[in-house]
Amino acid sequence: MGGPAAQTRPARCLVPELIGMPSAKFGFIGCGSVGRTLAQAFSRAGHQVAAAWSRGGEGALQMQQEVEGLRALASAQAVADTCDFVWLTVSDDAIARVADGIAWQSHHKVVHCSGATDIEALAKAKSDGATIGGFHPLQMFTDPAVALRGLPGVTVGVEAAEPAFLETLKRLAGDIGCTTVEVPRGQRAIYHASVYYVGPFFIALLSEAVSIWKSFSASERDALNALLPLLAGTTSAVTSSSLAKGMGGCVARGDVGTVRRHIAAIDLFSPNAGELYRSLTERTIPLGLARASLTTSVADQIREALSTAPTAKG
Ligand SMILES: NC(=O)c1ccc[n+]([C@@H]2O[C@H](COP(=O)([O-])OP(=O)(O)OC[C@H]3O[C@@H](n4cnc5c(N)ncnc54)[C@H](OP(=O)(O)O)[C@@H]3O)[C@@H](O)[C@H]2O)c1
Repeated sequence: MGGPAAQTRPARCLVPELIGMPSAKFGFIGCGSVGRTLAQAFSRAGHQVAAAWSRGGEGALQMQQEVEGLRALASAQAVADTCDFVWLTVSDDAIARVADGIAWQSHHKVVHCSGATDIEALAKAKSDGATIGGFHPLQMFTDPAVALRGLPGVTVGVEAAEPAFLETLKRLAGDIGCTTVEVPRGQRAIYHASVYYVGPFFIALLSEAVSIWKSFSASERDALNALLPLLAGTTSAVTSSSLAKGMGGCVARGDVGTVRRHIAAIDLFSPNAGELYRSLTERTIPLGLARASLTTSVADQIREALSTAPTAKG
């Protein structure tokens, strides 16, 4: 039976000794969306999240309100001097600059959360003797309360030169309910670009759809209320089968007439929207062929329909 401390910790909590850091203190440099979310998540998981610093000051004070026992400190160096495990949750372009300005020690573990930035951005920490790594949660962070609720089940892209530290990062991800994938060395930028298709680019697609709904007088909220359950159905269909088998719709069925009607309507709405519609429809053809519900001859007819140039019509 566990004592009082064990009872208050979640069952999956990492025992600090397991990462070779008895009583490791976590510190956050940069208190934006990701910093605030991870600080709360690790604190709830039983880690000692002790200190934070933010350039503007307000973020660290906010974190102090949100995380029991955390102190907002006056400098990034003060966080490093107080903590063992330092999370550099600043903007990507600031990571190297901030890391370069700190005197690190060999007990430090220093991690950034950028998907696209090489862990070599932490070279100064490494040359001072610290252990470095990358911890990139595949999650959309804006409102920390929303991001915190969404963390369980998220995948974290982890990278570290030292195998033992890579294991530490995996265990830390597990502590906050996440799974991990190892980001191949030197591949961070392309890995991160791929993630954009289901993050910001996906929101751009939703925005395109919403702008069409507005043309028939629906509000953004009306459109989202109608479209987001469709998104849930789409992800369920793909989750339970595969990309190709999860895709329904007129290309999958080979309904060329519907594609033609779409093109005419979208071109009338906006030639610019027509271009995007054509590119995306083109990308669905291989999936329709792969699910064997679209024949090559019907695929050719769809391609022919797409080959017309989008023009403004009166
Ligand atoms: N947002 C996401 O969906 C997401 C997902 C996964 C990973 N990430 C990564 O997580 C990291 C943080 O992103 P975020 O979304 O939390 O960004 P954010 O909300 O914009 O916060 C970034 C923080 O960096 C600080 N900062 C910027 N330039 C600085 C400088 N020169 N010196 C010191 N501090 C500086 C800002 O401080 P002030 O508030 O004082 O200006 C701000 O608190 C980034 O590496 C990002 O790529 C983000």
